[in-house]
Amino acid sequence: MRIHVLGSAAGGGFPQWNCNCRNCDGVRRGTLRATPRTQSSLALSGDGTNWLLCNASPDILAQLRAAPFLQPARSLRDIAIRAVLLIDAQIDHVTGLFMLREHRQPLDVWCTDPAREDLESGNPVFRLLGHYAGVVPRRIPLGGEVFMIPAVPGLAFAAHALTSNAPPYSPRRDRPVPGDNIGLEVTDLSSGRQLFYAPGLCEIDTAVADAMQRADCVLVDGTCWRDDELIALGISKKRARDMGHRPLDGDGGMLALLAGLPGSTRKVLIHINNTNPILDEDSAEHRRVRDAGVEIAHDGLEITL
Ligand code: MLT
Ligand code: MN
Ligand code: ZN
Repeated sequence: MRIHVLGSAAGGGFPQWNCNCRNCDGVRRGTLRATPRTQSSLALSGDGTNWLLCNASPDILAQLRAAPFLQPARSLRDIAIRAVLLIDAQIDHVTGLFMLREHRQPLDVWCTDPAREDLESGNPVFRLLGHYAGVVPRRIPLGGEVFMIPAVPGLAFAAHALTSNAPPYSPRRDRPVPGDNIGLEVTDLSSGRQLFYAPGLCEIDTAVADAMQRADCVLVDGTCWRDDELIALGISKKRARDMGHRPLDGDGGMLALLAGLPGSTRKVLIHINNTNPILDEDSAEHRRVRDAGVEIAHDGLEITL
């Protein structure tokens, strides 16, 4: 399995267009040792030819330009992406679908029932795309039931409902239902090796804990360092946990959780918010993550399992 990180930042990207926090200002001015990042997306393939786009970020066009292997140029209009899978219906994970409207045929979009509901009502991307290439919604089952995506051979998938939050625009915001967010298990059918991917991960039930224990690589929520990170900066009244993101630091933080996984597991943080001090490569927080044997995803990172 090839896992290609197209975008490693949370919503807003890094630097965020209107943000002058220490990180955004510093990376813009070149006074901070840090790497710009685009918004949350992965490309996955079992055979290196047929790719699944996991989340379609607002930065998809720039991400495709930066990933030439996704444009094999076999015909006048072509792309190696054979299907899209959505982890949730958040703006940073679905807006890129609009950019794919010139697709030659309707796009196969795999999502859960609640995500589909949002994409047909509150944020009716599917309805709008009906006026362009169109969408064929494909249902992601929950509860760890294994499913295949025929257009992307060699991989098996299983989704776990996460206790997180529905998108800010959703009628279910702060009253989420199972399937508003998922953690995804992907197994390479030839090597048997497994990925666990959850860019938004807060509560961890036994099914998710088990999936993380058996994974060879976990690519998980690295949004905020502290639970009150946005409050302390005066940017928001919400805690990271209120938004469905487990902070990295502290008792029960993501780093403590990752420390409980086997030593052989590759541990990678993704969906990193621009305010997170780990983005500053000279910070104590960056060093703590690296010293814990945890990687910080960057755009273009490729993992082979
Ligand atoms: C999130 O991950 O919490 C959302 O992407 C926030 C947003 O939509 O900006
Ligand atoms: Mn997000
Ligand atoms: Zn910022």
